[in-house]
Amino acid sequence: MKFDWVKKEFKTADEFLLEMLSYGKPIEVSLVGAFDNKGRGSRRNIDLDLHQDGDYSTQYKNKIDIVGLYCLRSSFAKTLITNSKNILTELILKKGEALIFDNKVCKHGRKGDILDRILLRVWIQKSSE
Ligand SMILES: [Fe+2]
Repeated sequence: MKFDWVKKEFKTADEFLLEMLSYGKPIEVSLVGAFDNKGRGSRRNIDLDLHQDGDYSTQYKNKIDIVGLYCLRSSFAKTLITNSKNILTELILKKGEALIFDNKVCKHGRKGDILDRILLRVWIQKSSE
């Protein structure tokens, strides 16, 4: 991977999924949205401080190399992402846009009401290691 993070557009979720698979082996594919009132942050309408995926899990700790988030339905919720120089960028993902990042380098978070925003999230473990 030649980038810390990148935002790019895909015509379909298939295209996004196939690009994610080109980076390595999928460890989890899930939907991120406001589905529950308790439990995993990725399923609740709460702000998330900067973190790396797998931080709070024993199963996935240090195993997630690359994360892809593809926006299926958008809202005004802000996605926060840092790069290797610790520079913070805020962005609002629109339908069809994806954020792909190196989970060992970048930290990410979010701010604002999720409302009916839905993201398709893929966790990848690099195959070259
Ligand atoms: Fe996360």
